[in-house]
Amino acid sequence: MSEFDPFKVFLELQLGLPRNGPGSRAATEAAFAMLPALPEKPEIADLGCGQGASTFELLRLTKGRVTAVDLFEPFLEKLGERAEEEGIGEERLVIMRGDMTALSFRDASFDLIWSEGAIYLLGFEHGLETWARFVKKDGFVAVSECTWLTATPSDEARVFWEEAYPSMGTIASNCEAAVRAGFEIVGTHVLTDEDWRAAYYSPMQARIAEMRETWGEEVEGVLSEAEAEIALFENNPGQYSYVFYVLRRKD
Ligand SMILES: C[S@@+](CC[C@H](N)C(=O)[O-])C[C@H]1O[C@@H](n2cnc3c(N)ncnc32)[C@H](O)[C@@H]1O
Repeated sequence: MSEFDPFKVFLELQLGLPRNGPGSRAATEAAFAMLPALPEKPEIADLGCGQGASTFELLRLTKGRVTAVDLFEPFLEKLGERAEEEGIGEERLVIMRGDMTALSFRDASFDLIWSEGAIYLLGFEHGLETWARFVKKDGFVAVSECTWLTATPSDEARVFWEEAYPSMGTIASNCEAAVRAGFEIVGTHVLTDEDWRAAYYSPMQARIAEMRETWGEEVEGVLSEAEAEIALFENNPGQYSYVFYVLRRKD
């Protein structure tokens, strides 16, 4: 039955997508534009980089070196293939298989830590506390995090997120958490609905149809769960979104 292990099916679904979470070039650029100053060649870490959607944007936006970290080899292999196609060498890109909950970088290694759609795996505040020491003094952290945009969500959205991510905050509560974790707020940026659809949910719908056709009944559980998440988003506009938090280390 191992070929239909739900995690493997989920991975197979994700590997066929251009991104592994909501986001876009425009959203990455908007968050990046908030950074007041970076060295000419910044040291950057992209934590939970997946197949590298943001990694390649950061390489385009800076002259720095990006260390792209993810736990799952198949994502990193895809990232490596793209780097090779684009002729990006080791002086600009370090691909590292690693656990972002237990990183072994030296303190103050980076001018900027970037992470799109992945800090929730540690929890927002705990993630910031854990990563703070890897950022240089006055360096930056930019993370995107699923966030409530309303204080009065529908029952459907509330029940789903209470189960999926009970500690999901609001922009205000996340900003307070960031300050407690030792950062000041440079700015926030809310992802648009198109940032969820264009490179994530729309290709995911196409991939679900394809997998349903070729893989059959055994993978139905994972596929219907993914469909339910898309339906929740479409049925509850404006109630929640990913939000970028651009932060400066204070001490
Ligand atoms: C929602 S995806 C976001 C991926 C990517 N940043 C993007 O926006 O396309 C979360 C990523 O975190 C990675 N991940 C999960 N647990 C991890 C861990 N403990 N350490 C490092 N990466 C992890 C997953 O493999 C996945 O690539």
